[in-house]
Amino acid sequence: MKVIKRMVRRLLPAPVDNVVRRALQVRRLSRVPAQAADVSRLPKAEEISLLELFEDDGIADEWDRTRRQVGEVFEYENKWQAVDTGVRRALWYLVRRWKPRRVLEIGTLVGASTLHIAMALKTCGHVDTPPSRLVTVDLNDVNDPVRRPWKRHRVSASPQEMLARLDCANLVEFVVASSLDYLAGREAEFDFVFVDHAASADVVYREIPLALTALCPGGHLLMHAYYPDGKPLHPGGVVAPGPHLAVRRLRRQGVGLAGLPLGPLPWPTEIGSSNHITSLALLVRE
Ligand SMILES: C[S@@+](CC[C@H](N)C(=O)[O-])C[C@H]1O[C@@H](n2cnc3c(N)ncnc32)[C@H](O)[C@@H]1O
Repeated sequence: MKVIKRMVRRLLPAPVDNVVRRALQVRRLSRVPAQAADVSRLPKAEEISLLELFEDDGIADEWDRTRRQVGEVFEYENKWQAVDTGVRRALWYLVRRWKPRRVLEIGTLVGASTLHIAMALKTCGHVDTPPSRLVTVDLNDVNDPVRRPWKRHRVSASPQEMLARLDCANLVEFVVASSLDYLAGREAEFDFVFVDHAASADVVYREIPLALTALCPGGHLLMHAYYPDGKPLHPGGVVAPGPHLAVRRLRRQGVGLAGLPLGPLPWPTEIGSSNHITSLALLVRE
């Protein structure tokens, strides 16, 4: 039934699909009991300078080297469901800038984002906090040697294997779990949490409060697939409504939380494209 529904949805034009998707998620979200959320660990919007976040600061050459190194193990073009080339660069810049000791990523898939976070962590210079500095969580075993899920995305090696080739395997811990289970049971705190699973609003709504408690004070919580006001980023574009609807409900409850979109990026979201708009957004305290 699920497969048939998905096939029918694929035939719908994007604006119709957006309306259907949103309506379904609003209904599912309305069934979740109200959650409390403590935003005290988040930075305020005015503490973040979007211009400074991606300032060059002489690291463009280092980025070019990183991109070439990653390109030797990972076919670099945009891939279905993985973060685009613009987001990969943005993640690398953010980790270089913030120098977090512990990062949590939710949504590993083929590891496009994982590789870039790990490569940036390698240069952060915190050598005293082994064994893992990036925990990456996915519902599925992304390194399963039997199913080899990376093949479906035209990637030639598992995330684990690519990290080993880039000499970063010791920095990353893979966890197979739902974000909600992981966050509810985790012991560590993180100074950077990156959520990239485009899950539905009912999941994101329960996940944000848990992620907020997993943050160190002043830590950063970055969402992908955040569509401000639930609108497409381009005319006729598709919207993943989950993060926006979840934040909207928390705000309506009086939680002082807002999404701060990071777009447009200083670079395109795809090699050769003129599009710089990204769906990355930081969650900030109001
Ligand atoms: C958009 S992809 C992530 C792409 C990845 N960051 C990359 O760049 O290759 C979303 C991933 O999130 C996983 N996922 C979806 N819902 C999840 C949840 N509630 N908890 C953990 N993982 C989830 C999916 O299995 C999928 O692999």
